Amino acid sequence: MGRIRVLDDHLVNRIAAGEVVERPAAVVKELVENSLDAGASSIEVRVEDGGRRRIVVADDGEGMERDDALLALERHATSKLRSFEDLAAIATLGFRGEALPSIAAVSRFFLRTAARDGFATEIEVRAGRIVEVREVERGRGTTTEVGGIFFNVPARRKFLRAAPTELAHIVRTVAHYALAHPSVRFVLEHEGRRLIDAPKAADRSERIAQVHGRELAAKLVPFAAEGSGIRVSGFAGRPVDALARRDVQHVFVNGRLVQDRVLGHAIAAAYGNTLARGLYPAMLLFVDIDPSRVDVNVHPQKTEVRFDRSSDVHDAVRAAVASALSHGAAVPRLQDLRPGTSTPTPLASVAAALTRYEAVAETPVRAYAPQDGVAAPSLLEEGAAAVDPGRRAVPLAQYKDSYIVAQDREGLLIVDQHVAHERVLFERYLKETERGEVHVQRLLFPKTIELSADEAVVLASEAGEFGRLGFLLEPFGGNAVKLDGVPAFAKDVAPDRLLRELLGEAARTRSAATGADELRRRLVTSAACQAAIKVNYPLAREGMQRLLDDLFQTENPTTCPHGRPIIFRLTLDEIERAFRRR
Ligand SMILES: Nc1ncnc2c1ncn2[C@@H]1O[C@H](COP(=O)(O)OP(=O)(O)OP(=O)(O)O)[C@@H](O)[C@H]1O
Ligand SMILES: [Mg+2]
Repeated sequence: MGRIRVLDDHLVNRIAAGEVVERPAAVVKELVENSLDAGASSIEVRVEDGGRRRIVVADDGEGMERDDALLALERHATSKLRSFEDLAAIATLGFRGEALPSIAAVSRFFLRTAARDGFATEIEVRAGRIVEVREVERGRGTTTEVGGIFFNVPARRKFLRAAPTELAHIVRTVAHYALAHPSVRFVLEHEGRRLIDAPKAADRSERIAQVHGRELAAKLVPFAAEGSGIRVSGFAGRPVDALARRDVQHVFVNGRLVQDRVLGHAIAAAYGNTLARGLYPAMLLFVDIDPSRVDVNVHPQKTEVRFDRSSDVHDAVRAAVASALSHGAAVPRLQDLRPGTSTPTPLASVAAALTRYEAVAETPVRAYAPQDGVAAPSLLEEGAAAVDPGRRAVPLAQYKDSYIVAQDREGLLIVDQHVAHERVLFERYLKETERGEVHVQRLLFPKTIELSADEAVVLASEAGEFGRLGFLLEPFGGNAVKLDGVPAFAKDVAPDRLLRELLGEAARTRSAATGADELRRRLVTSAACQAAIKVNYPLAREGMQRLLDDLFQTENPTTCPHGRPIIFRLTLDEIERAFRRR
């Protein structure tokens, strides 16, 4: 007898579930996609314990008759695909007939569905086996309930993260689909608390406001372009509002949320050098293209696509985004750039962050700069060349308004002013938080910040940590919070931006499942980075000296908290060898 056997369906479904159902948010994604494919005009998602205990998705779509409902639970049963030709031009979000049987194989599952008001079928499935089929009452539409995900696959259940992390993924998933389908009503509730409440919207900008708040919506620049069979539209964040977070960019191809390198590159190319490295502008990008020109069948969770001529798509996207940026709206207005106005911007905060150095910044530093070669001898006259015994290093000049050229006993130093300041702020702030002695700066005018649903979820679960970090926060109805105070050292960074960056960092850290210490370290790092003086900022000599003094008092003056080097050193020995004096 041969050793090879065909696996039974239950086993096959469970194996497929491993790919399709990565985590509760993946279940939400599949169910919401089914509701959208069914033409629903309202989709309600309710979850408990971050989706780990229960996920319910209810829609008012076309529903199913009893026989179809039973078939829907069979593997490879789909109403969306009939022939090989259909596969080449998929216009629906689902197409494989895999989602429901896979989900049902690893949960306690109910499908309640009616194609006509009042005549509903309820099918109860446990670990992939139908337990009962009954007639129930329900208006037209479908409710799918998924309880105890992975209850029968302990090895997988173990990998579920804490409820807040899983919930954050669910919030993001629902927010994404809500953004892509403004004419559909979306509701998301977690244990009775409404996290997303988006009634049918007139257009996408109204939907953005429902999901992300009016503040963000007002800052985005809309764009739309059409040509060579590709329609590109969306909303672009201004470079000046860019954040050090990738998760502010959402890309949809034919209404499907995807991650795509070609499109990511096109966006980056459109912004070009208006952005500092590591900063990402907010972006909502919708690409609509003939379904036959894009292959959606390339990834188990259907989150990647392949274009037949990706360079066409790339160029269309780059041109459309670039046109949005060239409009006046994307260019920061003058009042945005001036410190002390009501909407502080990164530039304003840089200027303000420098108040410590400002008093002396007036003195022209360039007198010491190497490009003024002749000025160099004056250093000697001032006696600056001799290193003060009480000091580790003294500044000689600032190069390109970004690097401090200094000397110490061993030789020459070139210090990156931004990372040096970041190191100083990082160590001080970390000590303050560890001792519970953070200096808090009360805001003169408390700031109300409308958080996105996923930010609100992160904050709710890390409120204690944000308190320890020196944020004075109070709930302010819905997903809004009132910010009364910030850590004093970062008081000149725009407070909403500071909070948002840290919330993004917290979300990323939590999904990496690190401990509380690591979370704090990363939040402190991010805050220090934002508050630190930037490059391209002239410093006076006294400012440079203070920064060097502070730097050499830190525990690790040579590398920044992100691991980048701070100091480049040329020893006297190396200099002498270079000039063949040795
Ligand atoms: N909410 C719903 N309303 C109406 N019909 C539904 C709903 N959910 C599922 N169905 C029906 O059940 C079938 C199976 O759903 P399932 O999600 O398993 O597969 P699919 O959507 O066809 O493909 P994929 O596996 O790519 O999601 C669908 O093709 C559809 O006909
Ligand atoms: Mg489906």
